[in-house]
Amino acid sequence: MISRINNLEDYAVAYRRSVSEPERFWSEVAEQFVWRKKWDKTVEYDFNDYNVQWYLNGKLNITENCLDRHLLSRGDKTAIHWVANDPHEKDRIFTYKELHEQVCLFANVLKRNGVVKGDRVCLYMPMVPELAIAVLACARIGAIHSVVFGGFSAQALADRINDAGAKILITADQGPRGNKVVELKQIADEALFQCEAIERVIVYQRTGADVKMDADRDVYWHDEVKSVPNVCDPEVMDSEDPLFILYTSGSTGKPKGVVHTTGGYMVYSWYSFRNVFQYQENDVYWCTADIGWITGHSYIVYGPLLEGATSVMFEGIPTFPDAGRFWRIVDRLKVNIFYTAPTAIRALMAQGLEYVELYKLDSLRVLGTVGEPINREAWEWYHQHIGKGQCPIVDTWWQTETGGIMISPVAGVIPTKPTYATLPLPGIQPILVDSEGNEIEGKGVEGNLCIKYPWPSMLRTTWGDHKRCKDTYFSTFKGLYFTGDGCRRDEDGYYRIMGRVDDVMNVSGHRIGTAEVENAINMHKGVVESAVVGYPHEIKGQGIYAYVVCDSEALEMSTITEFKAEILDIVIDKIGKIARPDKVQIVRGLPKTRSGKIMRRILRKIAEGQTDNFGDTSTLLDPSIVEAIKEGVVKDD
Ligand code: WTA
Repeated sequence: MISRINNLEDYAVAYRRSVSEPERFWSEVAEQFVWRKKWDKTVEYDFNDYNVQWYLNGKLNITENCLDRHLLSRGDKTAIHWVANDPHEKDRIFTYKELHEQVCLFANVLKRNGVVKGDRVCLYMPMVPELAIAVLACARIGAIHSVVFGGFSAQALADRINDAGAKILITADQGPRGNKVVELKQIADEALFQCEAIERVIVYQRTGADVKMDADRDVYWHDEVKSVPNVCDPEVMDSEDPLFILYTSGSTGKPKGVVHTTGGYMVYSWYSFRNVFQYQENDVYWCTADIGWITGHSYIVYGPLLEGATSVMFEGIPTFPDAGRFWRIVDRLKVNIFYTAPTAIRALMAQGLEYVELYKLDSLRVLGTVGEPINREAWEWYHQHIGKGQCPIVDTWWQTETGGIMISPVAGVIPTKPTYATLPLPGIQPILVDSEGNEIEGKGVEGNLCIKYPWPSMLRTTWGDHKRCKDTYFSTFKGLYFTGDGCRRDEDGYYRIMGRVDDVMNVSGHRIGTAEVENAINMHKGVVESAVVGYPHEIKGQGIYAYVVCDSEALEMSTITEFKAEILDIVIDKIGKIARPDKVQIVRGLPKTRSGKIMRRILRKIAEGQTDNFGDTSTLLDPSIVEAIKEGVVKDD
């Protein structure tokens, strides 16, 4: 069957066909879904004045394909197996039948609260099954979900709600994480002071904590589901109707609302899921991501459910109550496929093997990583100690914008190589270009990674600002989608992602724009200006280094230590803890060219610990500033 790659020959055939006859290829892959009306044309696109459409005029509902379609054959199979943060709390298991019912119930709740097709619904939730249920309930009635990661601050939440124009917010009282709780409702309340369009807040009671409820605006999830019917016909959607918005960082300060649509996203999230992980009917699959990120959207919710898989959902963190938590869950649930981030692997590696050796881990068959480059040591450790040398590691490269995995081994089919994402999946046509946009052909070369042909789950636009989408992804190199990543293609034709070439940092697998952090720091009254760069960090991949110029008065008012603490606080307040700088250096000035441009290259090198070889510094306005910064560099603790 065309949709399943079983061996190298299948891969070669599928890849060839996907390039020579892309329309036929993607048409055949899409056949197996339930469509209310078949598409007229598979793809239409223009990469210059960006526009792309897949499965034109096709009509469908993605939840009918995630849920209803499986009811006969897999109704009693576990769809979601949820594991709580607290190891003593009971798991919650939802079969396909039960999940279907819960989704229908909540879809009716949304309807009763005035949500109609095309409305934006914001979700600010902990990792509980109700988050997946709410996501699917939106899709059921054609509302566009916008999930905001529960670690974002009130300000970041407010910005995203307002940009999307959401009129309803779904949140929870609190979210347990490790030995802490996140005060979700309280943070949401603070955000909502700035969000006039929000008419209704539905609060899921996760802990039962006493939270403030606004009688005109807030209702409890449990009360709402009591009085609605458990049947809800799926809204018939066009292939190109938006399914969701997900905000991500770019090189400017303002997060972008990446928009994915229904038909193409469905086809590609499913196709990539089943092939990359080689999912087999009775496998237990666990992706440790949060649904607040694209990985959770595509590979906890949509991809696995479209396949009829059993998807594990975990509320906690890898190191609570101890660094053996993941492995205990793997043994207990007999997990076959395990997908996590290099940061988690490095953090657990640092805790020592005693936490691994207590567990058998013999159910594992496939391991995966995502979100950032994996270093060789972490790859080898994962391979040897978790996979016992037996499990292929799929190092999956992709982005919020790509909707699904783009370059990755197909487990057990494409031979792996540490630190390499290896080969593109069928349908994906990568190309490396130099800074002028000329193609770099051949092997053993490096360049900017672009994609030259559309694939079904590519972003369609950035919410409310199509020009920004065009400018960001389709203007740097004419006629190509530019990923923002640097990439090497080796002698075997394998791809290795080298990291971002723009001003986006990747901290613990989270994308953070340098400009976003600078904007936050600059809001401090005593700050004159700042420059933020990433530097290599043993566990997080990249750490955040902030150079801050402050006015002398501010420093007279408080000590340097106090001032630095205030800088950290303001970043936490404006964005969230994930963007907190690891190092703050107060400097007298920033290295600038005569035309006033900050020479970030120098700041990056200093943060990396270099003291010379700064390249061409002839355009520097004041070289003594560089000397002063070098002297004050913040070393590791
Ligand atoms: C990086 C996450 C190296 C890359 C799915 C990309 C990776 C950004 C890998 C997207 C990988 C993701 N190897 N780097 N396997 N996967 N990246 O949007 O820089 O949160 O551009 O999507 O993460 O991050 P995003």
